[in-house]
Amino acid sequence: MQRGVELRDGADVALFGVGGVDMTNVAFVKINGSLKAGHAAHRECSADQNAQAPREVSVRRIRYVVATSVDGYIAGPKGEADWIIRDSEIDFRALFDEFDTVLLGRRTYEITQSPGAPPWPAGMSVYVFSRTLRQRDHPEATIVAEKLEDTLAALRARSGKDIWLFGGSSLFQSLLGAGLVDTLEVTVSPVLLGGGIPLLPPPAKQTKLELIGHRVYKTGIVSLRYAVQGRSATKARGRRTSA
Ligand SMILES: NC(=O)c1ccc[n+]([C@@H]2O[C@H](COP(=O)([O-])OP(=O)(O)OC[C@H]3O[C@@H](n4cnc5c(N)ncnc54)[C@H](OP(=O)(O)O)[C@@H]3O)[C@@H](O)[C@H]2O)c1
Repeated sequence: MQRGVELRDGADVALFGVGGVDMTNVAFVKINGSLKAGHAAHRECSADQNAQAPREVSVRRIRYVVATSVDGYIAGPKGEADWIIRDSEIDFRALFDEFDTVLLGRRTYEITQSPGAPPWPAGMSVYVFSRTLRQRDHPEATIVAEKLEDTLAALRARSGKDIWLFGGSSLFQSLLGAGLVDTLEVTVSPVLLGGGIPLLPPPAKQTKLELIGHRVYKTGIVSLRYAVQGRSATKARGRRTSA
């Protein structure tokens, strides 16, 4: 199997504020849907704190959906993904349907460009973070070199489905450090790799998570879904689910 195909399959198995909104004053008023459905509704606080007339603002979540080993690696020492179990219980089509935008670090993007790698579903917007790639060489994607926060704030403010932080670790570290990750959804395969690319490379500060869902598959895969604590878009979205 081609490497790119392996990567995409791996992610599959992983189940796998914004203009005008003062995020420091955001209060949660209701959730539009379950984790699967996708969006949060926030109370918008105007400059004069007119709490009597809140306006709901839909914010798309950034979700890191990723496959890991039990010892916390997302790829083996040589970038291997052959340890990721392809589990027929997992509805990949439904998973992809929850997103219309993917965010990729340059290294992960290059793997998805390997010969034989499957294309993204129609309509999927692809954003690649890189300070070395040139936009004109990659017309199929939007290359983001700087102003990461501004780019993601604008993306989140648009209407649409959730945003899939596809990986890898380096990009996750950047976005987590910037407070831009709403959920961490790991699908743990029953294997120890003993080395490789860690889920979260150092340096990174301690981040508390809230378990919002889990499922155990017959293959031994365990999916764990966490809200990143302190992230306004997910704080109230605490519906626990289990198989
Ligand atoms: N298990 C899974 O579900 C899964 C999912 C995805 C990926 N993976 C694996 O993860 C590995 C790749 O992960 P990785 O951590 O090595 O690399 P990565 O995150 O895919 O890419 C790193 C690159 O992204 C760019 N980047 C990162 N943060 C940035 C920022 N804040 N602004 C601008 N550009 C930024 C830089 O590109 P430039 O050097 O061009 O500036 C950096 O070198 C692969 O082996 C892949 O197979 C596994």
